[in-house]
Amino acid sequence: PGHRPLFGKHVLITAGPTHEPIDPVRYIANRSSGRQGFAIAKAAAELGAEVTLVAGPVHLATPAGVVRIDVESAREMLAEVEKALPADVAIMVAAVADWRAADVPEQKIKKDGAAIPALNLTENPDILATLAKHAQRPRLLIGFAAETEKVVEHAQAKLAKKGCDWIVANDVSGDVMGGANNAVHIVTKQVVESLADAPKDVVARKLMEKIADAVGQG
Ligand code: C5P
Repeated sequence: PGHRPLFGKHVLITAGPTHEPIDPVRYIANRSSGRQGFAIAKAAAELGAEVTLVAGPVHLATPAGVVRIDVESAREMLAEVEKALPADVAIMVAAVADWRAADVPEQKIKKDGAAIPALNLTENPDILATLAKHAQRPRLLIGFAAETEKVVEHAQAKLAKKGCDWIVANDVSGDVMGGANNAVHIVTKQVVESLADAPKDVVARKLMEKIADAVGQG
């Protein structure tokens, strides 16, 4: 009803952490709750977009009107993101694990051996950077950056490195991860727009309004 500037646009969003298996019962994870990504998916649907939300393991309800695809690992997330293309806008909010265990045994690692097992890690694919170089690159590609210092400076460097159009940078030196509020800086190639500390759904709505302004009429 009313204001639906993203009607007819496909918005692809990742959210939450990833779980990287060590063996059948253990995994590597992080503290992402998925709340900011889910709030963005909700705001995008409210503005009329067709929304695909690729979600890592989180305990959150699917926002109304959103198509949700659940995944566990970074590699599964990348596969589902690529399957969901084409998209007009992609917003990569997930806290994707940088590394995964290099070899995952089929059986549980037992404690009875004398040696403490070593965890060998290997690099995960970078989903955002992959989309930036993709033949079906979304017209507006947005990444997130969690930083604890020099937030805007690091975001500008990340924009160039990842090949995306905007970086939404948040200062996670406090309790943002898993918390209800967020203060972000939207960093584009030209400008930096800082949004005041606010509940994650308010931040989501403001961000989506800005995205609608950028792509809504095209
Ligand atoms: O390099 P860094 O992890 O700080 O970059 C964060 C941004 O990159 C986020 O948008 C995140 O969703 C995305 N990312 C990704 N795949 C990775 C690592 C990060 O899409 N393997």
